[in-house]
Amino acid sequence: MGSSHDRTLLILHPYAKSLAAILSQQLHGLRILAAERIEDALPMIGEGAVEVLISPTRLVTDELLGRAVNLRWVASTSAGNDRLAKNPRLSESILLTKGTSHGTTMAEYVLAYMLYFSRQIENNLVKQREKIWNRSLPEVRPLSLQGKTLGVLGLGSTGRTVAKYGKALGMTVLGLKRTPEPVDSVDRIFSPDMLEQMIPIVDTLVVVLPLTQETFHFLGEKELHLMKDGALLINIGRGKEIDEEGLIRVLKTKKIHAVLDVCETEPLPKESELWAMKNVIITPHVSGIVTPEELCAEFVANYQRWITGKPLEGVVDRQKGY
Ligand SMILES: NC(=O)c1ccc[n+]([C@@H]2O[C@H](COP(=O)([O-])OP(=O)(O)OC[C@H]3O[C@@H](n4cnc5c(N)ncnc54)[C@H](OP(=O)(O)O)[C@@H]3O)[C@@H](O)[C@H]2O)c1
Repeated sequence: MGSSHDRTLLILHPYAKSLAAILSQQLHGLRILAAERIEDALPMIGEGAVEVLISPTRLVTDELLGRAVNLRWVASTSAGNDRLAKNPRLSESILLTKGTSHGTTMAEYVLAYMLYFSRQIENNLVKQREKIWNRSLPEVRPLSLQGKTLGVLGLGSTGRTVAKYGKALGMTVLGLKRTPEPVDSVDRIFSPDMLEQMIPIVDTLVVVLPLTQETFHFLGEKELHLMKDGALLINIGRGKEIDEEGLIRVLKTKKIHAVLDVCETEPLPKESELWAMKNVIITPHVSGIVTPEELCAEFVANYQRWITGKPLEGVVDRQKGY
């Protein structure tokens, strides 16, 4: 790509050096600065030349924004940009785009844990360690996911991939989102006010919503109580979308399981009861993994659109917050 634009790009990212190495091969004529830490990025952005910033949303601090006088585009590598979208320091005139490459690994995470429970993987491991050969059938959840019902809360780039993978396993897929248009692989679309109708009919409920005012505590104790016995809850969205105290009470009284990649407070405090609950699996916000190559491919495609005046992928609607 040989477009010679006198623009400065700052990459502020734990993998900044790898990203810079890949992008400098592909985007000639662009001055690329790379910083792994905010302290290193501040003097670079303070020079005033930076027009484009690549960074995960958590590193885009007020101080950084305050110094970025010529910033025109923040290409966030995060899919969720709740705080940044509403930050008054980020002027409305600055373009904000979100990461759109997390879908595949997050959908694989959902598949992994649905199969973990349906195939009773933990039970088999326990029996193996005790040298027990026991072919009796599992009691709680059926062995196959085929014909079971998957509910997906949020049908963005990730929720759609979750739906596609669920459909490929022969599941009935229900989806919930704000707008009513049909979505591939989703058998039935529910609106947010139909949440209570959707929950009792699903075997696995996946939360993959952006965090906004409307989705804070989207699932409270009342809604969680509607889950059927043996159902599985998987949260790969944001921890604050579930009332965690309410969830703990429901997990103590109902025969459901929860897989939580995100928690209300991260890291999950050591004193949280969730750590030790037998029907809970905790992972440390790792369901969405994107390689430096994928991040770069996403950015290069959008950069080409940007310099040729075409609409960009993944533009965050600042009013909606996602
Ligand atoms: N755990 C991790 O590692 C990880 C990694 C990446 C992302 N995430 C989280 O996952 C979230 C979703 O990612 P994404 O890329 O799929 O999001 P996205 O493309 O922005 O899509 C968001 C979806 O949520 C729906 N939605 C928004 N507000 C809603 C509401 N009040 N009620 C019902 N539906 C609502 C939207 O509905 P419409 O289609 O009708 O607008 C849309 O379908 C991110 O925002 C982030 O918080 C977590």
